[in-house]
Amino acid sequence: MVNEGLRLVPGYLSRSAQENLVQEVEKVAESAPFYTPTMPRSGRPFSVRMTNAGPLGWVSDRSGYRYQAEHPESGEPWPGIPRAILDIWEDLSGFPAPPQCCLINRYGAANSKMGLHRDEDEEDFSAPVVSVSLGDTAVFRIGGAERRSPTSSFKLSSGDVLVLAGPSRMHYHGIDRVLNGTSTLIREGGRINLTLRRVTRPG
Ligand code: SIN
Ligand code: FE2
Repeated sequence: MVNEGLRLVPGYLSRSAQENLVQEVEKVAESAPFYTPTMPRSGRPFSVRMTNAGPLGWVSDRSGYRYQAEHPESGEPWPGIPRAILDIWEDLSGFPAPPQCCLINRYGAANSKMGLHRDEDEEDFSAPVVSVSLGDTAVFRIGGAERRSPTSSFKLSSGDVLVLAGPSRMHYHGIDRVLNGTSTLIREGGRINLTLRRVTRPG
């Protein structure tokens, strides 16, 4: 399986950096609480809860996937992306402009997963996607440019960072499952994923 441009940085974050990020996520969630998004059309709930930081948040509901500046339940603007998260982007993205969205996915202790999808709601695909894993280990699956392309899977552990750049930026991917109890980072268990994305063209 060739995913050109895909880069896994195992153990990028020290334990204390991971603990700090969990605290930052808790702070974000105080002003922008996790909520349960629903699938377009069917209205079926996602198995992950979500919130966002940054000028634009990614949301999903019956009317579709989109970016918007406000939390869908409170109507408040999303909080800013914490400095420690921007630092990861600056170090690993190789992109000259900052991310506009930090989507925060919360995989609970029970059976959360993320179906195969492409990140394609952005205007600008030249910037990579930078994805940070915290908490329980996840089985990540990635294919190619077509939904039917062959796939392969590998594990993402707490503190790992994955960069989807080049062709892999547009490859189908998802989370098969989360391996409960594999990390002690998050008190309640489960997993947190931070997905950093550029939404509009810089300039
Ligand atoms: C996603 O691609 O939306 C989430 C990936 C992850 O949770 O690691
Ligand atoms: Fe994604």
